[in-house]
Amino acid sequence: MLRSVLISASRSARCRALAERAPVVRAVVNRFVAGAGVDDAIRVCRELAADRLVSLDHLGEDTLEREQATATVDAYRTVLRRLDDEGLAARAEVSVKLSALGRALPVDGEKIALENTRLICAAAAAAGTRVTVDMEDHTTTDSTLAIVRALRVDFPDTGTVLQAYLKRTEADCADFAGPGSRIRLCKGAYDEPASVAFRKKSEVAASYVRCLKVLMRGKGYPMVATHDPRLIDIAGELAGRIDFEYQMLYGIRPDVQQRLAAQGRKMRVYVPYGTEWYPYFVRRLAERPANVAFFLRALAGAQPVR
Ligand code: FDA
Repeated sequence: MLRSVLISASRSARCRALAERAPVVRAVVNRFVAGAGVDDAIRVCRELAADRLVSLDHLGEDTLEREQATATVDAYRTVLRRLDDEGLAARAEVSVKLSALGRALPVDGEKIALENTRLICAAAAAAGTRVTVDMEDHTTTDSTLAIVRALRVDFPDTGTVLQAYLKRTEADCADFAGPGSRIRLCKGAYDEPASVAFRKKSEVAASYVRCLKVLMRGKGYPMVATHDPRLIDIAGELAGRIDFEYQMLYGIRPDVQQRLAAQGRKMRVYVPYGTEWYPYFVRRLAERPANVAFFLRALAGAQPVR
């Protein structure tokens, strides 16, 4: 219930305007977001790269103006040049959202998003790294997978995300478990109807394990994106000697991130940066009721903001 309310708030312009005006909100946001600019992204990337890998995400989604989509491409080109210049490209890739690259534009949205993402893939290849395409709500799954297939013709190492809460995902994992296929498996962060998605936590976890088995038996490169301790253990057991990586979000369970890295596991941290933090931040609140309490306490000034 709380999760559904928060996820609809993540798309509300009114809630967004309120949150963006409150200075205390920004202080709480800093737990999950590296900062507003490219320098912040590079600074955090450098810190993490000492023991972990990184995926940088320039925040933004649901773009309805072509110029904004073009500005997003430019932002990725800039950060990719910086990764190359600073010798960080071997430790960091970028994650992109197709809705930030024009997919929702009224005319030729998918075509524009494909061409924009292609430009980012080319910039990533020139810098010596690659791109993973995030997954958004279920109405966009087919379009995302079609665009990723098209990108892979020229950039075969382009990765994408599959969401275990969707009932279709076990079959998608089988389709995408071919040689070289980079698949990030996550639970899923949107509020999806029971017609297409498992709604109970136990069902989502069981689906995650089934999907993991398909990916681990396949010929691709599984990217295990979860903070769930049970799933982290199961992935380690299923993998045996298979090459794979764990992924977690910036600011969430950093102790576990460091422990896995110290054990010699590949551990990648998804690091968002930029000014368009609102929907991403509200999805993080929705994942854990304690985050909402922390946020409300900070708002009420009942404790110092970290
Ligand atoms: P779960 O939510 O059950 O959390 C397990 C434990 O982790 C919690 O008990 C808590 O300790 C900790 N935890 C989890 N979330 C927390 C939070 N917000 N704050 C504090 N503690 C938290 N989704 C999507 O739909 N499309 C996408 O492209 C991506 N991309 C993506 C990339 C990466 C690298 C990660 C790690 C995740 C995503 N996600 C995503 C988000 C994903 O779908 C999911 O919403 C979150 O990872 C939370 O699910 P967990 O698997 O961590 O389990």
